[in-house]
Amino acid sequence: MSSTITSLTIIRPDDWHLHLRDGAVLASVVGDTARQFGRAIIMPNLKPPVTTVALAAAYRDRILAAQEKAGIPQRDFTPLMTLYLTDNTSVQDIEQAAKSGFVHGVKLYPAGATTNSDAGVTDLLGRCSLVLEAMQKAGLPLLVHGEVTDPDIDLFDREAVFVDRVMIPLRRAFPELKVVFEHLTTSEGVQYVRYAEGPVAATLTAHHLLYNRNALFAGGLQPHWYCLPVLKREKHRQALLDAATSGNNRFFLGTDSAPHPRGLKEAACGCAGCYTALHAMELYATAFASVDRLDRLEGFASRHGPAFYGLPENTGTLTLERADFKIPAELPMAGSTVVPLAAGQSLQWKVASTGA
Ligand code: DOR
Ligand code: ZN
Repeated sequence: MSSTITSLTIIRPDDWHLHLRDGAVLASVVGDTARQFGRAIIMPNLKPPVTTVALAAAYRDRILAAQEKAGIPQRDFTPLMTLYLTDNTSVQDIEQAAKSGFVHGVKLYPAGATTNSDAGVTDLLGRCSLVLEAMQKAGLPLLVHGEVTDPDIDLFDREAVFVDRVMIPLRRAFPELKVVFEHLTTSEGVQYVRYAEGPVAATLTAHHLLYNRNALFAGGLQPHWYCLPVLKREKHRQALLDAATSGNNRFFLGTDSAPHPRGLKEAACGCAGCYTALHAMELYATAFASVDRLDRLEGFASRHGPAFYGLPENTGTLTLERADFKIPAELPMAGSTVVPLAAGQSLQWKVASTGA
């Protein structure tokens, strides 16, 4: 029975959806991630966005330099780069990406859906068909921010409507295209991913497994729980937790950790994004322990992702132990401050060590 478990050693996990940012904060952010994860899929929504292989190579070099500055050897962490899909992405960009060896996906941001998505796609099937065909041929996954941007659609319904308006037609047109439905937030999304034919998977964040939308308004407006897609009702959280802990290899870990300086979160128009890189595995372990399913954490965190992306599992390990872990109130980051998710609260699981 996992309820009696006091320590758990798993294959070193990976984060299949991460925002590392750029510039001065990079060393702190990559350090937090690399302390827990062996690899991470790096989101391309910089300003300007990472739209070409040349830009991805330059960003990768900056990440590796920051990693060295943070004292993390290259063998301990590998950034898996992505391209930002636009209406103007070319078939040649895709062919170069597939050949590069370091680009592992292409990210779809519907234009206007979230932070730095202005350059995103306006009409996926209308504008990007040749590119999607090239990705399908090359086996390069499409990583999807799955929300429609139609202002007439209620914010809480945008993922469910995306399934009908975009996912179903997309998969009908490109049945062999690998698609990751990123940061799934609804029971409709879970249902779709469970039963869709073809190579479809989904990432799940720790915050969507642990919290429902009440967290946004508990005792006043709570900007540090605001992310996109936004937290949903409890019945959706339960569907996500059920999917994560089911053992189904279509569901795997992606933190969507996205740091913003405190002042841009606690503002009249606060930014979307929760910072969870510091304590990601503590949060996921807490979610899995809540339904007595720690035995399924390794599959979700360390095996299903590599299997989908066609990469080997990591060789190292990570050990969690049942112990009090106090989440810091704030983290200094390159002259500003980031407030981690659930700052000041305590968790009952703690990363004790990572092994070679
Ligand atoms: O909450 C979010 N923050 N959702 C996203 O899709 C983007 C991210 C960010 O870059 O801050
Ligand atoms: Zn994201």
